[in-house]
Amino acid sequence: MKKVLITGANGYIGKCLYYFLKKNFKVIGIDKIKSEEKNIIQCNILNKKKLDKVIKSEKPEIIVHLAAQSLVDETINKKKYYDNNDKATKSLLEIIKKNKIKKIIFSSTAAIYKQSSKPLKENSKIKSLSTYAKTKLMCEKKIQNEKNIKFVILRFFNVCSALDRPVIGEFHNPETHLIPTIVYKAMHNKKIFIYGENFNTFDGTCIRDYIHIKDICSAIEKSINYISKNNRSNIFNIGNNKGLSNKEIVNHVRSKLKKNLILKYVKKRKGDVSKLVCNSNKVKKVLGWNAKNSNIKKIVNDEIKWINKINKAGLKRKFKNYL
Ligand SMILES: NC(=O)c1ccc[n+]([C@@H]2O[C@H](COP(=O)([O-])OP(=O)(O)OC[C@H]3O[C@@H](n4cnc5c(N)ncnc54)[C@H](O)[C@@H]3O)[C@@H](O)[C@H]2O)c1
Repeated sequence: MKKVLITGANGYIGKCLYYFLKKNFKVIGIDKIKSEEKNIIQCNILNKKKLDKVIKSEKPEIIVHLAAQSLVDETINKKKYYDNNDKATKSLLEIIKKNKIKKIIFSSTAAIYKQSSKPLKENSKIKSLSTYAKTKLMCEKKIQNEKNIKFVILRFFNVCSALDRPVIGEFHNPETHLIPTIVYKAMHNKKIFIYGENFNTFDGTCIRDYIHIKDICSAIEKSINYISKNNRSNIFNIGNNKGLSNKEIVNHVRSKLKKNLILKYVKKRKGDVSKLVCNSNKVKKVLGWNAKNSNIKKIVNDEIKWINKINKAGLKRKFKNYL
């Protein structure tokens, strides 16, 4: 079995991936935050000495680099983005080269693209507005500049929902993502704030491309197999090829839970664009990947299962500002 090391393994995608890959790989993780999992080692990537020690003793063949300052919020100190994205990736590349590891999968984002009314392809125009997107693009460039390392860069659209076996989902603090917010608030009879009602879309609310976490995990697994077999580098967009408006999501949650939701439409957030939808033809063709789980019915059903688990554990989701 191949040995894979996941960075950011205590985060949303990292934890789900850790369990997903365990079926077919030896998996270890690192995260700057302590985990209850014994194979997820507490290690800040910026601590090169410790990182070197972990990599030297574990000897993974492939790195899946997910660790990042991932919350998109321009009020967060910019240094956090430069440190945990750009500087951490530089540190990771230095240590993996030192230990002769030659393959990396990197989680990038659709936020690097210039807004377009058309579905976004891998060669669509780049225009990174947020500090988050700018630093993710800097990481992409650093990885691409490495001559002796093969990479697969995956540009994720809006990752959402939960694995169903075992049931694991996202628990950010604060939670800013739309689907976990709407479903949680609807289940707890709390007021739901929707940002903007006058976007240039068919119903006036923002349109985004939502992709189920299980499909994200399978895209990463296929990328690991691709890079191992072909020893080639590539870049893929990972999305559902389909947009959903905020109102469509609200309507679906309302009919699923069969209850009236408490909704309030508030001012647009600065920087929010009308529509971001993925063209995932390339990844379908090259990796044979499909977004099998990303229909809104499964997305909402699995999120409900995860919220029931959070509730049972006595955990409460926290929200910022209006959310
Ligand atoms: N969730 C999404 O919708 C989405 C969309 C596009 C791209 N991505 C990318 O996917 C990756 C994972 O996203 P997520 O939602 O799981 O994020 P997350 O914030 O839940 O997890 C990130 C993890 O990285 C860890 N980390 C941060 N800096 C570190 C450091 N210096 N050393 C060690 N660990 C560190 C954090 O402690 C955290 O556990 C990120 O790179 C993110 O940019 C996510």
